[in-house]
Order: sequence, then structure tokens, then C-alpha cells
Amino acid sequence: MSSLSLPPGPKTKFAAGVFLELRRDPLGFLLRAARQYGDVCHLQLGPRHNYLVNNPEDIKNILVAPQGMARSNHPSIKRLLGKGLITSQGEFHRRHRRLVQPAFHKAQIAAWGREMSAEGERTSSRWKDGGVIEVGEEMSRATLAVIVKTMVSTDIEDSTGRRLGEAWSTVIGTSHLHKIPFLDELLLKLPLPRTRRIEKGLRYLNETIYAMIAERRNRGLEKPDLLSILLRVRDAEGDAAGLADEEIRDEILTMFTAGHETISSALTWTWHLLSLHPEVEAALHAEVDGVLEGGRAPGVDDLPRLPYTRMVLAESMRIYPPVWIIARRNVEDYQLGEHLVPAGSFLYLSQYVVHHDARYYPDPDRFDPTRWTPEGIASRPKYSYFPFGGGGRQCIGEGYAWTEGVLLLALLAQRWRLEPVPGQRIDIDPVITLRPKHGLRMTTHARHGAN
Ligand code: HEM
Repeated sequence: MSSLSLPPGPKTKFAAGVFLELRRDPLGFLLRAARQYGDVCHLQLGPRHNYLVNNPEDIKNILVAPQGMARSNHPSIKRLLGKGLITSQGEFHRRHRRLVQPAFHKAQIAAWGREMSAEGERTSSRWKDGGVIEVGEEMSRATLAVIVKTMVSTDIEDSTGRRLGEAWSTVIGTSHLHKIPFLDELLLKLPLPRTRRIEKGLRYLNETIYAMIAERRNRGLEKPDLLSILLRVRDAEGDAAGLADEEIRDEILTMFTAGHETISSALTWTWHLLSLHPEVEAALHAEVDGVLEGGRAPGVDDLPRLPYTRMVLAESMRIYPPVWIIARRNVEDYQLGEHLVPAGSFLYLSQYVVHHDARYYPDPDRFDPTRWTPEGIASRPKYSYFPFGGGGRQCIGEGYAWTEGVLLLALLAQRWRLEPVPGQRIDIDPVITLRPKHGLRMTTHARHGAN
């Protein structure tokens, strides 16, 4: 194995300036670093080696590395999600992944597709011709309703559903803490009003989910949701124990967290991009009007007939990938091309950076769904696009996300055109997912007379 030769990058160990810049404008910093230093960029902060990896081949190798890479998780996320799929590691993670995977098979997602469409209908019925909506809130409300319904069969309009949604938002609302990682654990231990609200929210989430588990176990209740699937899973490899209550709680909260703001972010930016590109919007309208005769709601059987809708969503997640960076910590020394990465380093793979690389996407800021024709896809390296990650930790909800994203987009675009309220400033806030920093207000215009 070769000796430690460091890739190019800003050469400073006490990088207060770099640290501040990273906090102020992480996306701009990463883009500039990739452009200046190339496929692998090294940054040392104190004793810690950080590598930003921008080459699709290296990204693939890191994501599929069978052993030796650990997901790097934030302490507040670990606290919320326990040992769910996002936060667990090693053999524990592999066993859980085997157990949970069947819940995300095509037939199951198709069954959940009805709930997705029904939620699209409810969202549409709330909008008024000429009314103004905050798009992020609307998308978030719709995707929260879908995740709560499909995971635990609860309506978000019911009191339990509403409180679940509020408690989850309070707990996950620690997001500002993510910007000061080393203070995070300390702040969560102090009796601040915010910390107390988080504790209360977490208590409600736990009590509600444990009560649901107990009720189902005691009464043998079966519902068409993830919770019922998790209660009956058994490992085909001879392990008959299934999942304990705490493990089920962790997985349910993991799905709430991973499967809601992500799709909401993708849809929010899609409306923004559509409003700036009338020619794309017109092509989308032509497709959905042709497929959804008489303005009916789409179902999963329509998905193969909505290829352009999917291409619009794919291109939107290229420009604004909901998950904009993946972090790994190598537990063993790792050979990255000609460089030996010492064990304990941090490897960063940024969807935002690679998706804006002109080598794979000429004129990368241009919104052009036709990049996603089969020929376009075949012309690029696979990991030049990885909104859902890859390898053994690839997003388990990818099929679910495409189904929900395309169904909601098709249904709403068939009925509504969204026009930005003039004079808004649009900046990106890279928190857990990418969000419009100052919100995104749009006027809803009914496309086919009053809705
Ligand atoms: C547009 C929507 C979504 C995007 C962009 C997205 C993106 C991602 C990415 C990039 C990862 C891998 C992170 C890593 O390797 O460190 C991931 C993992 C995960 N996602 Fe998603 N996701 C989406 C929707 C969903 C949905 C709908 C669910 C569940 C209902 C879900 C559940 C998960 C889980 C459980 C993991 C962890 C998988 C594991 O480590 O085994 N995601 N997601």
C-alpha cells in the first residue's frame, strides 16, 4: 500500500476561515473546492482529515465498499432514531435491512400508491384559484400525511396524526444545531426551553408508537401499513425472533424522518423550476392532460405512461438534490486512487457538487429534463447521479419516493399552474435537505376552470 500522500486542497490545519466559510455557504464552498482542486480534495481541520470525492468511479467504490466504511451520523439524529436503518452499522444494520426490505417491494408500494393519490386530491381541494400558498409547507404537509398514513395508518387530520406531526417537527427542528456539531450534545443536555420542547416531543412520539405496537400485538390487529409488516417480519436465514418493540419504534421514526422532507424538498424545487421554464411546464401539461383523461387522479398503473413527469422530477433532483451530501468514515485505511486515506478520516460525497459537474451535465445550471432520455442516461457514468446514494446503504425508499413524487406532481400539474409571487428572493438553505431559505410563495391558478 502506498504511503500517505495528500491530495490537493486548502493547506491549513487551523482553518477558522475555512470553517466559517463552510458554515456560511457550504454549497458554494464545496463547488469551488471541486473546481479548484479536482476529483479528490483534501482538507485538514485540526487532526481530522477530510476528503471531498467528486469522481463517479471513486464514489461508486466508496458506496459499495463491502466493509470498512461507516456512515457518519450526527448525535442529535442518533438520539432520535436509535438504531434504525439510517443510524445502525455493521451486522445489526445488515440484519435489519434484510428484514425491512420486503416492505418496500413493488406490490406494497403500489398498494400505498392509492394513499399517495388520495393525498394529492386532498391537497388539490385545499387550493383556491388565485390563492397564494407557501409551497414548501404545502408539499411538506402532503408528504407528512402520506408517510404517517402508510407507516402507521393514521390520518394527519385526526388528533393523533396532528400531534404526531407536530411532535416530529419539534424534535427534528433541532436542525439549527446541525450547524454547530461539537456543541450539539452539550446543548441537548442543557435545560433550555427548546431542549425541553424537544424532550416533550420525543416523549409523545415514543408513547404513541409504543401504544400502537402494544395494541396491535395484544389484539392481533393487521393494517395495510409498515408497522404491521414490521410486526410480522421474520428473518429467512433461520432467525425466528423478528423485531423487538424498540427496534420497530426506531424504524418507524426513521421512515418518518427519511421519507417526508426529502420528497417535499424535491417537489418544492420542482414547482420553482417549472415556473421559470414555461416550455418544460407546457410539455408536462401536455403529458398529464393526455394521460389523465377528464382530470381523473393518477394511479400506479399510469406511471409507465408518465415518462416526462418522471424526467422533470429527475432533473429537478439533479439541480436540487434533496440529500446534498453523504458522509462516510473509513474504519480501516482506504486506498483512494493513488492516495492512502488513513483510518478515521471523513469522506464526503456531494450530490450537489457532482450533479453540477459540467463534464457530465453541460451547462449544469440549465433545467433540461431531456437529459433523462434512455440515451442521455446511458451516455453518463452511473454515479454522476446519485440522489438516492448507492451500495448496501442505498435509499430503501427510492421506489416509494419515485411513486409518490410522480403521482403528486402529475395530479397537481394536471389541475394547477403555480406562479411565483413577484419580488421574492430565492436562496438555498442546505440544512438536512435543501430548502428555499426565505420560503417560496406561489399563486395557484386553476388550469381547467374552477377546481
Ligand atoms: C426524494 C426522496 C428521497 C431521497 C432524495 C432520499 C435519499 C436518500 C439517500 C441519499 C440515502 C443514503 C444516505 C447514505 O448513504 O448515507 C437514503 C437512505 C435512506 N432512505 Fe431515503 N431518500 C428519499 C426518500 C425516502 C423515503 C420515501 C423513505 C422511506 C419511506 C426513505 C428511507 C430511507 C432509509 C431508511 C435510508 C437508510 C437506508 C440504509 O442505510 O439502509 N427515503 N435516502
